[in-house]
Amino acid sequence: MPAVSAMATQDLIPIEAHGRERIGPCALVLRGFALPYVAALLRAVADIEVCSPFRHMVTLGGFAMSVALTNCGALGWTSDRRGYRYSAIDPLSARPWPPMPDVFRELARGAAASAGFEAFQPDACLINRYLPGSRLSLHQDRNERDFDAPIVSVSLGMPATFLFGGAARSDRAAKVPLHHGDVAVWGGADRLRYHGVMPLKDEPHPWLGSQRINFTFRKAG
Ligand code: SIN
Ligand code: FE2
Repeated sequence: MPAVSAMATQDLIPIEAHGRERIGPCALVLRGFALPYVAALLRAVADIEVCSPFRHMVTLGGFAMSVALTNCGALGWTSDRRGYRYSAIDPLSARPWPPMPDVFRELARGAAASAGFEAFQPDACLINRYLPGSRLSLHQDRNERDFDAPIVSVSLGMPATFLFGGAARSDRAAKVPLHHGDVAVWGGADRLRYHGVMPLKDEPHPWLGSQRINFTFRKAG
């Protein structure tokens, strides 16, 4: 009998976990795409948060975000009363952000390629932690230097309702359920669409409990 291979392990994932849903001309949800990476992602987050803890950043308007955030990679996204920007230094630790583990890059590159964006080279990974009631209001990801590269967004833990809007904040937003292991990719004509996350309900995940961890991979610099 052959040893259990990665392929055989993947075979245990239900068929629908591998579904692809188009949410825009250049935007897809890859159901369950990150499931083989969950253990590696969680181990890495545990290391990253020792050096660069999750924190509630303050927005331009002076409000603390309900989502807690950290980063890994050459650049990390930060926010304070002066505005939003990418920085090589974590303002909390005064040190560079923890490096992006190779397995993160492999996952992000694989998901981007599967959605039609070849040779994605992320240099920033924002890690957002949501607790019940946390939300992310509609925004565009536009602090990156150019918009040619897509955004790759990985969801773990509790389910969330992702809002995928249009080019204007007032455009009606589609409600897209995101579950543990799902990866959303948007780029090209969809790169600057407004998006956000509805307040999370407390629907504890069997492994992660009452939290959702989201990773967004970007080419920022
Ligand atoms: C983001 O827009 O940066 C995060 C989206 C999400 O948490 O699904
Ligand atoms: Fe975003």
